[in-house]
Amino acid sequence: MTDHKKIKTLATGDRTIPPVGAKMIPIYIMGREYEVPESLTIMKAIEYAGYSYTRGCGCRGGICGACGSFYRFIGDYRLYSGLACQTVVAPNMVVVQLPFFPANRPGYDLENVAKDPHEELRRLYPEVFRCVGCGTCTRTCPMDIDVMDYIALMKRGDLKAAAEKSFDCVMCGLCASRCPAQISQFTAAMFVRRVCGRYILPKAGHLEKRVSDVKAGKYEAMLKELLAMKQDDVKKLYVEREREPDMAEAGKWMPKDTTKL
Ligand code: SF4
Ligand code: SF4
Ligand code: FES
Repeated sequence: MTDHKKIKTLATGDRTIPPVGAKMIPIYIMGREYEVPESLTIMKAIEYAGYSYTRGCGCRGGICGACGSFYRFIGDYRLYSGLACQTVVAPNMVVVQLPFFPANRPGYDLENVAKDPHEELRRLYPEVFRCVGCGTCTRTCPMDIDVMDYIALMKRGDLKAAAEKSFDCVMCGLCASRCPAQISQFTAAMFVRRVCGRYILPKAGHLEKRVSDVKAGKYEAMLKELLAMKQDDVKKLYVEREREPDMAEAGKWMPKDTTKL
C-alpha cells in the first residue's frame, strides 16, 4: 500500500460484469489506487474504475494490438508488459496503458522494391542491421513471437522466413518500446510481409479473378440492391446467411447458392 488516498470506483463500464463475490484487490491506474475485482483483465479493471475507452481498445480479444500495457508490482523492480484485454490484474499492480506507440514508418512504393527488396529494407530500416541480439523484444512479445529471430532472418536476407515468423504480430509495438537499438521491429516486419505477398509467394488465382470481377462491375447491382433495402431486412439477410461451418475442411466448402460468387 502507498500513501495514495484510496479512490472509490466511479462506475461500472457497460462491458464489465464483475463476478459475484469476487475478491477486491488494490491496483494503481495512472498512479491512483482503485479496488477492483481480482479476476478482471486490465482493460475491464480500468473500465470498472470508471474510465471509458476512446482509444487503446479495439477487438478485446488479443487480435488488434491496440492495448499494449506496462506494469510493475509494488516492491518488485521488474517491468512487465502485456495486452490490457488479455492480462488479468493482480494485487498491487501499477499499470499504464499505451495509447499509441510511435514507430519508424517510412513511406515506400512496393512497385519500386522488386529489384532488390533486401537492399530496400536496408535503406528504409537501417536500424534493423544494428540489432545487438539482446532478446528483449522476444521476451516482451505478448504473442510469443521470436522477434529477435525474425530480425536476424531479415538481416540475413531471408525475407520469406521473416514474413512467416512474424505473421502472428498484432502490431502492439511493445517490442519496439524496449529495444536498445531503437528498432521498430513490427513495422519493418510489415514491410517484409508486404514484399513477400507481392513478390515471393505464388499469386492466388482466385484472388486475381475476384479483383477482375470487382473491376468489371460484377457486384454493382448487388450492392445497389443492398443499399436500397431497409435496415431490418439487411439484418435478417445477415442472420440467415449461409455460413461456412467452423470445422469445414479448407477449400472444400461451397454455399448452395453460388449465384452471388
Ligand atoms: S512482434 Fe512486437 S508488435 Fe508484434 S505482437 Fe510482438 S511485441 Fe507486439
Ligand atoms: S530488442 Fe532490439 S536489439 Fe534486442 S534483440 Fe530485439 S531487435 Fe535486437
Ligand atoms: S483490444 Fe485488441 S488486442 Fe486488446
